[in-house]
Amino acid sequence: MMSEVFVDDARNLKKRIKKQSIDVTITSPPYYDMKDYGHEGQIGFGQSYDIYLKDLKNIFKDVFHATKETGSLWVVIDSFKRDGAVVTLPFDFAREISSVGWKLQDVIIWKKDKTVPWSKKGTTRKIFEYVLFFSKGNDFKYYSERAREIRDLKEWWVRYPERYSPHGKSLEEIWEFSIPTQGSWGEGYIKHFCPLPEDLVKRILTLTTDEGDLVFDPFAGSGTVPAQAAFMARNFYGFELNEQYVQMFKNYLNSNIEKRLATHTSSNPPIDAEKFRTTILDLRILKYARVLFKKLKSDGVDIQKIWVEPSNEALDGKYTIAAARYLLLVAPGMNEQIQASLVKITQSPPLSKFGIMANITSIDDAKKFSDYLPSNRIFSYTQNNTHQHRSTAAAANSTDGVILSSIEMDINEEIYRNAR
Ligand SMILES: C[S@@+](CC[C@H](N)C(=O)[O-])C[C@H]1O[C@@H](n2cnc3c(N)ncnc32)[C@H](O)[C@@H]1O
Repeated sequence: MMSEVFVDDARNLKKRIKKQSIDVTITSPPYYDMKDYGHEGQIGFGQSYDIYLKDLKNIFKDVFHATKETGSLWVVIDSFKRDGAVVTLPFDFAREISSVGWKLQDVIIWKKDKTVPWSKKGTTRKIFEYVLFFSKGNDFKYYSERAREIRDLKEWWVRYPERYSPHGKSLEEIWEFSIPTQGSWGEGYIKHFCPLPEDLVKRILTLTTDEGDLVFDPFAGSGTVPAQAAFMARNFYGFELNEQYVQMFKNYLNSNIEKRLATHTSSNPPIDAEKFRTTILDLRILKYARVLFKKLKSDGVDIQKIWVEPSNEALDGKYTIAAARYLLLVAPGMNEQIQASLVKITQSPPLSKFGIMANITSIDDAKKFSDYLPSNRIFSYTQNNTHQHRSTAAAANSTDGVILSSIEMDINEEIYRNAR
């Protein structure tokens, strides 16, 4: 597929772009009657508010028809003050384009770090813009697991791994990205008024597109959206009235594409995301043993130790995320009696909510129990702590460690307590 930014009016979209071909549109429309982008046919400057809204509505109606059923639209847009009162452009705009079919899915706040230090009477200092997220239908592409936050978790995940998704925390509705400054795109490139941050565009592309998808910006400006799309191995189309901007974009793209494509690592989560995922699963598997131990005790079962190891069994349901094997050592003669307790305990919360497919067996013969254990790499944990193992030496015989496992977990919570 060809990628291209046309020096043309976005009102000509239908002539150039096929129906149902776009995957995702990301754009910031021209401002209303504030900025002169220096070209005839520009939207916003010199128009009445009604005409401006109508023009936008018509363009986004064409975008709607050019978008695939699984596609979406992201619009960065802001309110402004006119004649002493706020004009609610984001909401007026959302209403207009909802009437042509777009479904508003989310309202996100883009928090900028650098803004003007002053404010006017009756107005607090402006530090954000809206990002409106629309879908064409209900079956839109949205890979939330790719963009989860794993850095900002407080220490709670260590002790309560069952409350955290292995993919981390869902994205919040406030996104912080700094405004690109002159020069950050290379010498003299940004002479444009309002470029979008590359990382904001990157997040949206990660969330809603795959390699080879078609990304569109009807008001391409400095070309942040098409450039980022190209750097992430997506195709692009764009419109921009100002020929100079398009030329600058092309020069920028040509001199950077090779380097940027080489560092592009497809859409796989970064390696630390994978480490977080396995850690949460292991923590859950271990904690499951600890909770099981305590519950059996308070149910009157004389339980002495639990051996736990992850297993590769195929998961059996939508809500299971890991499989593990648990071998329980109970006091002689307790083996029969424990069964009823086990059913009751594992089928009710909290254990039923852990997402662990547990294969549990119990024996009342200490010799058989230790024969089952491997000869080395046994890590021992107490009934109060399954995130930091005790000494590994002679773990099988240690008296304080009641949970024994092949899983090595050595997390010092203090590190996370103060981290932010
Ligand atoms: C807010 S800026 C877009 C900034 C862009 N997102 C970026 O990262 O640089 C809006 C752009 O729309 C362009 N524009 C205005 N009217 C247009 C029209 N009818 N067709 C295509 N582009 C238009 C302006 O020249 C301006 O560059």
